Amino acid sequence: MTAKPILNVLSGRPQAVPPVWFMRQAGRYLPEYRALRERAGSFLDLCFTPELAAEVTLQPIRRFGFDAAILFSDILVVPHALGRSVRFEAGEGPRLEPLDDAMKLNALAATEDGRVFAPVYEAVRQVKRALPDNVALLGFCGAPWTVATYMVAGHGTPDQAPARLMAYREPQAFARMIDILVEVSSRYLVAQLRAGADAVQIFDTWAGVLPTGEFERWCVAPVRRMVENVRRAVPEAKIIGFPRGAGAALTRYLDAVPVDAVSIDWMAEPSFVRAHVQSRVAVQGNLDPLALLAGGAALDRAVDDILANFGQGPLIFNLGHGILPPTPIAHVEQVLRRIRG
Ligand code: CP3
Repeated sequence: MTAKPILNVLSGRPQAVPPVWFMRQAGRYLPEYRALRERAGSFLDLCFTPELAAEVTLQPIRRFGFDAAILFSDILVVPHALGRSVRFEAGEGPRLEPLDDAMKLNALAATEDGRVFAPVYEAVRQVKRALPDNVALLGFCGAPWTVATYMVAGHGTPDQAPARLMAYREPQAFARMIDILVEVSSRYLVAQLRAGADAVQIFDTWAGVLPTGEFERWCVAPVRRMVENVRRAVPEAKIIGFPRGAGAALTRYLDAVPVDAVSIDWMAEPSFVRAHVQSRVAVQGNLDPLALLAGGAALDRAVDDILANFGQGPLIFNLGHGILPPTPIAHVEQVLRRIRG
């Protein structure tokens, strides 16, 4: 038995009161984040200064007493370590130099500059020392497909069309990039675990936009290889998968990817998830971030529904996607009271 409720759930043991954390729980909805963000200079400076990254990671733990802290960083530090230019413009989201033809893809560095990640591991060690015993520390990275969508387009896109097109037109060059991301991301997760992360989450935010064969090739197979790589190095590693928008394809993901939990979005059908996901592994989710933003009776109802749908089995209470910046702090407190009584 461990003192960390989330690790119990990840081992398949339901908790009477489900542990809870929120994706993007460190961020712009918190005044203490906005204040520190202003002092840090750029977003990447914040990610790569261990003291600041550790402080931001701990802010939501101090304020709300969540059951997990998630390392403050971003999925796009991986392309940065591969030598791609990555910038975060205020109000605009990420900007990268696009990899918009096969020649550029084939010229992508085959391995990372490992020094780039050193401050991230130092932040993990600092957070680990500061956390109470019952709070888990989560590391993370993006899944290769989702990271690739930003690397190809150079920015966020509504339908990930640039990466989807590239994968059809230049499958060999695209596969080379995915293979590189598999290896770098696996090493990155292993090092986070060795630095003290209790579990890691693999974010595949854009898994839901691909047809079956492409989903298999660019989402399932690469994440499977990552999980195998990580477990080869750290056999007891606890891993949460988040193939957002996978819908009924969640079963095919689980058939191939031996994760300990699946994080589900708010669209997922509860009886389907109970029968085909929670019967096999723990479930994490799946409050609609807009219900959290709305608050009031609708929020209470949404929380109760999740507890009724998944509370009998292994459940980590979370959002179905990241918290939205205009979310009132009082609504987060309302959810915690509703769950914990
Ligand atoms: O969850 C946490 O609190 C830990 C930190 C974290 C961030 N990004 C911080 C961040 C995590 C886990 C992420 C993951 C991430 N980053 C994903 C996957 C999950 C998801 O939300 O879909 C993706 C796709 C990204 C890429 C990214 N980073 C985008 C598209 C943006 C711009 C949009 C936005 O929300 O601002 C970012 C910036 C970013 N990452 C911010 C934060 C707190 C805001 C930057 C700022 O403070 O100005």
